[in-house]
Amino acid sequence: MAGYGSWLLFSTVCALSLFGADAEIKFSIPVGRFFTYELMRETFQNDFEPLSKLYAGRWYDDPMIFKCNKQHFPDLPEWLRFTQRHPYDNGFLYGTPTSPGKCIIEIYAINKRSYETVRHILVIQIFAEKLLPYQAEFFIKLREIEKVLPSSVQEDIKQDLQNLWESKTLEMVNMTNALDRGGRVPLPLAGHFEGVYVKVGSKQQFSKCLRKVLTPEHQRLCTAGTKVKVPGGCNFCRDPSNCITWCKTELFDLTREQPAPPPPTMGSGILEDGGDFDPPESPPSRDYFPDYIVTVIVPLILAIILCLLLAYIMFGRREGVAKRNAKTDQIQLYHQHTIHDNTDELRNMAGNRSASPPLSTLPMFNSRTGERFPPLQSDSPTIPLIMAQQDPYSDTLPRK
Ligand SMILES: *[C@@H]1O[C@H](CO)[C@@H](O)[C@H](O)[C@H]1NC(C)=O
Repeated sequence: MAGYGSWLLFSTVCALSLFGADAEIKFSIPVGRFFTYELMRETFQNDFEPLSKLYAGRWYDDPMIFKCNKQHFPDLPEWLRFTQRHPYDNGFLYGTPTSPGKCIIEIYAINKRSYETVRHILVIQIFAEKLLPYQAEFFIKLREIEKVLPSSVQEDIKQDLQNLWESKTLEMVNMTNALDRGGRVPLPLAGHFEGVYVKVGSKQQFSKCLRKVLTPEHQRLCTAGTKVKVPGGCNFCRDPSNCITWCKTELFDLTREQPAPPPPTMGSGILEDGGDFDPPESPPSRDYFPDYIVTVIVPLILAIILCLLLAYIMFGRREGVAKRNAKTDQIQLYHQHTIHDNTDELRNMAGNRSASPPLSTLPMFNSRTGERFPPLQSDSPTIPLIMAQQDPYSDTLPRK
């Protein structure tokens, strides 16, 4: 009985792990071949509303966006790119792996209606393979990358190029948006496209048609900037939007490009005897005096001169109080002295309540008797101005 129970448990675990494994999509691809994976919105829609079609009879077509990254990394691996034109379009992961290894890609689909999220895992196993020795790149002007990534279109393009190459064994090597290669964003008008670069490779030599690209004649026509047509007998495009721009065709002969690097010469592993160590002579002595003058003495002299100049301006050219007083009118000096004295007096009084009556008003009343004196009329400059009723020195006072 216990054996039966554990067997049941074991099979459940197996089934679960099988289902779990189903959530991963696995690919095994060679290095140097083009890889495309279409993120079908329909598949993800099934994950969002698995039973709505079956039971409610409703079928949603929600806008979706995708976020793709390498597992435990913020971004995709270097060789893999993602594109999706619009939330109502399928997304594509595409690129050409350059080194063998294993890539785990996480794909998050976000439903823009309900904001639900699902995750898919893509496991890409990349195995080593020799690069195709003959490669060629073509430019398709009237296409956009999303339009050529579906496998049917890729197949059509490959078919045309196989006819041009006269080979049945072409392989896609790369597809690139022309914008990623410095192309311009087209005007948003009908008939303007971003353009796509398509690279294919083969084990077979270039055909006669392709080798026309290498002729000086071709170079001359293309640099002249005239509209160069694909030479007669070499035009194989059946769909006008798949036609190549002949002047942008480039051939890569990888067989010729790699001259074998010279092997390193092997020594015995023991250094030759070079005699005794001969220490180098000490370098000739150098005169540092001019450097010293320039870096220390000259700035020092400049600083001293500046100091002297400043000292002269600050101390040597000041007038001094006595000299200024001698230059000033007697009456003006007196006026200012009284202002100063009175201010001092008022300050002292403010600090002390029981201060004696101010001296400045002394001539106007007697502090003990309270008797007032009539105001004095005098021209004498020693009489305080404040007593004057008609002001004889009005030119020394601020005018009202
Ligand atoms: C494919 O094209 C892209 C974009 O131009 C480039 O970065 C990448 O190196 C190419 N891959 C190969 C294998 O040529």
